[in-house]
Amino acid sequence: MKKIIVTGGAGFIGSNLILKLFKDHPDWTIMNIDKLTYASDHNYLKPLKDSERYYFKKVDLVDRDEIKDIVKSFKPDGVFHLAAESHVDNSITGPEPFIQSNVVGTFNLLEECRQLWSEDPQSWKENRFLHVSTDEVYGELEDDGLFTEQTPYAPNSPYSASKAGSDMIVRAYYHTYRMNVVTTNCSNNYGPHQHDEKLIPTVIRNAMAHNPIPIYGKGENVRDWLFVQDHCEALETAFLKGKAGETYNVGGNNEWMNLDLVHKICDILNNELGQGPEGDYKNLISFVTDRLGHDFRYAIDASKIKNELGWEPSQDFDGMLRETILWYINKYSNK
Ligand SMILES: NC(=O)c1ccc[n+]([C@@H]2O[C@H](COP(=O)([O-])OP(=O)(O)OC[C@H]3O[C@@H](n4cnc5c(N)ncnc54)[C@H](O)[C@@H]3O)[C@@H](O)[C@H]2O)c1
Repeated sequence: MKKIIVTGGAGFIGSNLILKLFKDHPDWTIMNIDKLTYASDHNYLKPLKDSERYYFKKVDLVDRDEIKDIVKSFKPDGVFHLAAESHVDNSITGPEPFIQSNVVGTFNLLEECRQLWSEDPQSWKENRFLHVSTDEVYGELEDDGLFTEQTPYAPNSPYSASKAGSDMIVRAYYHTYRMNVVTTNCSNNYGPHQHDEKLIPTVIRNAMAHNPIPIYGKGENVRDWLFVQDHCEALETAFLKGKAGETYNVGGNNEWMNLDLVHKICDILNNELGQGPEGDYKNLISFVTDRLGHDFRYAIDASKIKNELGWEPSQDFDGMLRETILWYINKYSNK
């Protein structure tokens, strides 16, 4: 039996990841550490509730004593670290929780694992800390070019700065102590379990309520969208096969301008729900004042993880976007 900690497992990506790891690794016991912020929903893990291979601790990573106790008693063989404050808009209105959870929280868990694993040479060699980060640490791109693992860090929002800070601490733990860490930097995810505040759920929720669909600026910002299951597959691959001290970019090779993506979602909603009093759901689009410091474009070169670890996205965007939209239609219909 391997003992694995997943942090942020009641969030969007973490809950999808735990369901996958639980199925893929019958010899793993999983401990989910999550503070259960507004962005989480532990109900997504209800199917695991009675399993002897699943444990849950409602803990804030900032609480060093609690983290020390958990690490010392559970003695993890590996960590998937996803817990973070994740919404850029919130980091603009109130950056402090981002620094606390994303920087201090990462440090606390990393340091407790270092102390535990360094007690035994075998654990030190084999036990891995996978740090899950974002492409936003690289700043923004113009119309051309892709982020590679060599792109210098240039975070622009308090969110991306806090993630960049945590990436640097993890990096230093490899260079200083040769701790077995791997970092992944991923593009925008879509799929079930995402909090209402994010773009795709926001479009669907407002369309279904026949409310204006808010789009920042002129809707010209570009993001590279990856299905959450593809991301989870990449995390599992990086954890199992990645090289210690390396970073891997993860992306969908699937760039969309926000406005085009929203149009696409509206087309699917028109088909699935039939048009409402407003006619085409696109008539609800309402351009609102742009996000402060809004990065123009993110796009990932994911050739390193493909060439070195054999991962590439496998899910078809049209099919998975439709499936995602059906999941949110079901969610919002039952509210
Ligand atoms: N969603 C994306 O598109 C995306 C893309 C790239 C990277 N990421 C990264 O992936 C990770 C997961 O993102 P997500 O979209 O699932 O986020 P999310 O906001 O849906 O979930 C984050 C989870 O972390 C928990 N959490 C927050 N602060 C905590 C703390 N101090 N202690 C314990 N738990 C805490 C929350 O309760 C929540 O369950 C984050 O590290 C994020 O930076 C996300």
